[in-house]
Amino acid sequence: MSDVREVWSVAVLGAGTMGMGIAQLCATRGITTRLFDVQSAQLERADASIKKQLARAVEKGRMSEGDSKEVHGRITRTENLEEAVSDAELVIEAVPEQMDLKVELFRSVIASASENTLLGSNTSSLSLTELGKRLGQPERVVGLHFFNPPPVMPLLEIVRGLATSEASVERALAFARQLEKEPIVVNDYPGFASSRLGVALGAEAIRMLESGVASAVDIDRAMELGYRHPMGPLKLTDLVGLDVRLAILDHLHRELGEQFRPPALLRQMVRAGRTGKKAGIGFYRWTEEGPVPV
Ligand code: CAA
Repeated sequence: MSDVREVWSVAVLGAGTMGMGIAQLCATRGITTRLFDVQSAQLERADASIKKQLARAVEKGRMSEGDSKEVHGRITRTENLEEAVSDAELVIEAVPEQMDLKVELFRSVIASASENTLLGSNTSSLSLTELGKRLGQPERVVGLHFFNPPPVMPLLEIVRGLATSEASVERALAFARQLEKEPIVVNDYPGFASSRLGVALGAEAIRMLESGVASAVDIDRAMELGYRHPMGPLKLTDLVGLDVRLAILDHLHRELGEQFRPPALLRQMVRAGRTGKKAGIGFYRWTEEGPVPV
């Protein structure tokens, strides 16, 4: 339906890797954006990262200095959930992949937001049907699955829970057009379309590293040079976050079975705090110049 109104006010909940990128994207498209997190330090990190990306866009001549200031000015950081959501037309949750945490957060959102606010979740694998049921308002809940880095990747995977209303899906599609993203609509099934395939490749690459098939660099080069993937599966796991990938695999292992059992090496590395780019180390060491072999 083309008569769905554009969104002018969004609340992004969680200022981690995805939340900060989604906020930057929304603000770049002219949307007033509130970025909420419970940790002020995380909000500061998000702000520094967004400023850095905007400065880079100016440097490369993709954005004027004035426009970058306007984009930055559209993002308000807050640790107050009520303030974040009270006049939001759309909420996009991007907190860690724990169902109970998401339910608790959305319950507070429902208490403070308008009843017309669309409830979007950036979950990579959890059930929108379960989330909707536990909130008692399944028609308002829709998956809005973005890809890292959100300002760059063209896809928006819209996930329809069993009781998500058609009106909510239409609003999500209109939002994707507003963001200039390419949407796909998938039904709620563990791992949707993208995560199921993405983590299968990533997990297999880690198992190959465990078995000594080749070095991390050469496993990645196999896919970069042989299959034209923009980055190999191990570098990509570093970019996404090893903890994020482990949470998805644990969930898919429970839901879909043995083929998604997380490799032991992945769990070890998460325990060691080697969670990838955000920690400075994962399968690579991340320097100012980019990833280098560990
Ligand atoms: N914000 C805004 N722009 C960014 C950015 C960011 N965070 N990161 C990179 N860019 C821009 C750069 O400014 C650059 O723009 P120009 O071409 O206009 O100069 C462009 O993106 C390319 O960046 P780089 O030159 O630094 O590096 P690159 O060519 O190697 O591209 C990449 C980087 C876009 C990340 C590319 O390597 C890539 O596409 N990698 C694969 C990413 C991927 O698969 N993501 C999905 C992960 S799965 C997921 O996210 C879902 C989940 O549920 C876990």
